[in-house]
Order: sequence, then structure tokens, then C-alpha cells
Amino acid sequence: MRIAIVGANGQLGNDLVKVLRPLHDLTPLTRADVQVTSPESVEAMLRTHQPELVMNMAAFHKVDVCEDEVEPAFAVNAYGVRTLAWPAGLTRLCCCI
Ligand SMILES: NC(=O)c1ccc[n+]([C@@H]2O[C@H](COP(=O)([O-])OP(=O)(O)OC[C@H]3O[C@@H](n4cnc5c(N)ncnc54)[C@H](OP(=O)(O)O)[C@@H]3O)[C@@H](O)[C@H]2O)c1
Repeated sequence: MRIAIVGANGQLGNDLVKVLRPLHDLTPLTRADVQVTSPESVEAMLRTHQPELVMNMAAFHKVDVCEDEVEPAFAVNAYGVRTLAWPAGLTRLCCCI
């Protein structure tokens, strides 16, 4: 399966890449490759890589910082997921929370 892993250089993303790489056609994507806060960036990534499954490991999850920086936290953790899920043609999205 063609799988795009978003947030691939995070702790969980990094582990998933190691486990899934031998089994699937994997595209690990860092924040430099795709910004989940940007619909244009997400659409460009989907056009380029045409994944059958997107696994979202992108997160803003330093809990103490999230409490003070609510907008950036929501931008990644809530609206970022919507931005990944929204584009037509995306068949499957898996998120880790
Ligand atoms: N680690 C665990 O044991 C564990 C267990 C269960 C669930 N989870 C959940 O899994 C998710 C990831 O956790 P983690 O521990 O792997 O976190 P992490 O190490 O902080 O990784 C998060 C990744 O998200 C990327 N990111 C942040 N903002 C982004 C944006 N706007 N666009 C694209 N990428 C962005 C970061 O990129 P930069 O490196 O460039 O900042 C980083 O690579 C969280 O939802 C967490 O709650 C984690």
C-alpha cells in the first residue's frame, strides 16, 4: 500500500517508519515536506505522492505549552486533522491522539 506518514521525524512517526518501511511503499514526510496547517501544502503533497493511506503523526503536544498557546495547538491538533481529511480523493486517514 502507498502510505504517507506525516510528522515522520517525531517520536511516533520515526518508529512507524522503521516498522512499516519493509512492508509498504512508504513516504515519510517531515514538517518541511508538508504543513498540516496549510491546505495548499496538504493538497500539493496529496497530488505529488497520491497516497492510498495518510497516517498523521503531526502534533503540538507539549501539554503545558498548549495551555498558553491555544491557537497554535488547535491549528495543528484539531484543524490540521481537518485539513488532512478534507481534500477530495483522500480515501483513508489514520491519526494518533
Ligand atoms: N510518543 C508516544 O509514545 C505516543 C503515544 C501515544 C500517542 N501519541 C500521539 O502521537 C502523536 C505524535 O506524538 P510524538 O510523541 O511522536 O510527538 P513529536 O515527537 O513531538 O512529533 C510530532 C511531529 O509533528 C510535527 N509537526 C508539528 N507541527 C507540524 C505541522 N504544522 N505540520 C507538519 N508537522 C508538524 C513535528 O515536526 P518538527 O519536528 O519539525 O517540530 C514532529 O515531527 C501525538 O498526537 C501524541 O499524542 C504519542
